[in-house]
Amino acid sequence: MAEEVSVLVAEEDVQERIRALGEQISKDYEGKTVHIIGVLKGACYFMCALARYISVPVTFDFMSVSSYGDDTKSSGIVRIVKDLDEPLTGKDVLIVEDIIDSGRTLSHLMELMKGRKPASLKLATLLDKPDRRVTEVNVDYTGFEIEDVFVVGFGLDYQQRYRNLPFIGIMNLS
Ligand code: IMP
Ligand code: MG
Repeated sequence: MAEEVSVLVAEEDVQERIRALGEQISKDYEGKTVHIIGVLKGACYFMCALARYISVPVTFDFMSVSSYGDDTKSSGIVRIVKDLDEPLTGKDVLIVEDIIDSGRTLSHLMELMKGRKPASLKLATLLDKPDRRVTEVNVDYTGFEIEDVFVVGFGLDYQQRYRNLPFIGIMNLS
């Protein structure tokens, strides 16, 4: 099968939007430390890009989940593959995700994190496909809302490839 990627959001536009989100987050968390949790592997590009534009103190942790889905769809059964290194008690936690599709992964993860008693819990996603939502998720910061297309780049993969593209592209299979 031939794989072809066309640009959906150009590199400069991705950076510009992330800068604006970083500035907003810096305002919202004034006087606090933001504890950013990146959901591996997809969120790592967005997480690092976002952190550059946050002016309040930032700490990092990572989590890896597996959703027992196929390549393009999650099943809703979420398993923690790598748990956090640090407890969340009393921290101002910001979960960072690459994309919210059905919402199943994130709604499960948010519930789990809530149980760990953070002082506050918010969610930032680079991309959102609201038309695909099956489970409700409250998103605090969104980079771009997109249509129901399969995207790659800026952390997002197709069969583990294309994560390193500096822009967001649409994956065309023919
Ligand atoms: P959800 O549980 O359906 O919201 O699934 C979210 C996860 O599905 C993301 O973290 C991605 O790993 C994957 N995903 C959903 N849509 C896309 C896409 O367009 N490109 C790449 N990965 C995607
Ligand atoms: Mg993925």
